[in-house]
Amino acid sequence: MSFLAKHVKLYEKERSPLRAFFGGLMRTIDWDERKHSVLMIDQRRLPEKLEIFQADTAERMIEAIQTMVIRGAPALGVAGAFTVALAALELRNTSDPDWFTKLEQAAITIKSSRPTAVNLAWGVNRVMSIPGLLEESIEVAAEAMLNEALSMAEEDINTNIKLARNGSTLINDGDVLMHHCNTGALAAVDWGTALGAIRFAHESGKKVKVLIDETRPRLQGARLTAWECEQYGIPYEIITDNAAGYFLQRGEVDAVFFGADRVAANGDVVNKIGTYMLSLAANANKVPVYCVFPKSSVDLSIATGKDIIIEEREPDEVLGISFMGERVAPTSAHARNPAFDLTPHELISAWVTEDGVIYPPFSGTFQ
Ligand code: MRU
Repeated sequence: MSFLAKHVKLYEKERSPLRAFFGGLMRTIDWDERKHSVLMIDQRRLPEKLEIFQADTAERMIEAIQTMVIRGAPALGVAGAFTVALAALELRNTSDPDWFTKLEQAAITIKSSRPTAVNLAWGVNRVMSIPGLLEESIEVAAEAMLNEALSMAEEDINTNIKLARNGSTLINDGDVLMHHCNTGALAAVDWGTALGAIRFAHESGKKVKVLIDETRPRLQGARLTAWECEQYGIPYEIITDNAAGYFLQRGEVDAVFFGADRVAANGDVVNKIGTYMLSLAANANKVPVYCVFPKSSVDLSIATGKDIIIEEREPDEVLGISFMGERVAPTSAHARNPAFDLTPHELISAWVTEDGVIYPPFSGTFQ
């Protein structure tokens, strides 16, 4: 029995709501009615361990978001929705007449827990703006908020299947695809974005191979994307981030695929650090660059990517790496750790959403 099948069986035995899905994976994030908690695959442990992180308070959800138990733009959207619903469920017990103001304060804290991916704010705002919420009692409001979060989780899967299908039309039989970060089921409720498109092509019978870049510093490529490709049976090889130019220059890559954390009105894309360098190298070698994301990642209030706040994370993520069991950096070393970078729209060959493929210009596609 495979590692994954064994664990899926284990969860079934525990009567956990985490369900087995197409390809044998579980949902990345799900609601457990019995435990009154959000359950998430703990992405800090993969691929070594498949563990579940349980959150029964908004505070615990914020911890999960900040420490990257859950990550990836679409998953963060649904996580944001569940977090604010949990905050409302907690307020139910306080009979506080000022509950809506408290919820608004909680919403601000949740949105700032990871500020770059616009989906987090989108998820929180959508639950907070359920029509008529203020006229209801906190009991009714909290139930409505939880229901909204649950339907957003269902929608996320449907949206991702659509955009995966659209993205797969850009993939030909026999293609070698270069992929950055993790954009698969683990970055969403299921399916994901760029890796979803690759998975869709693979499951439609196209022979593809993926060159997965490691994605330093947190190695989402080497850890999570490689793990997902194993589950789907997609052939892959891991490359170091700085080998991307080598393969692109040699003509060994047919297309570059990545997702987005926020897309500005002009089509500029903010995505995982390294996306910009990868796009520059692809353009220099005339390899098409495809960016796949749900419309919830588009932020029309931002004219160009330069206006997007880039999250800088702890230097330890850069300095804490070991080589052959030894720490790499001197113990007193300093580091900078921007989590995302900006890829100007000129470097992108096409954008893919649930509505279809958009060729330049991007501006004006969404009003
Ligand atoms: O810091 P992370 O792991 O949350 O960053 C994730 C990415 O940058 C992904 O490429 C992006 O969210 C698109 S995923 C569908």
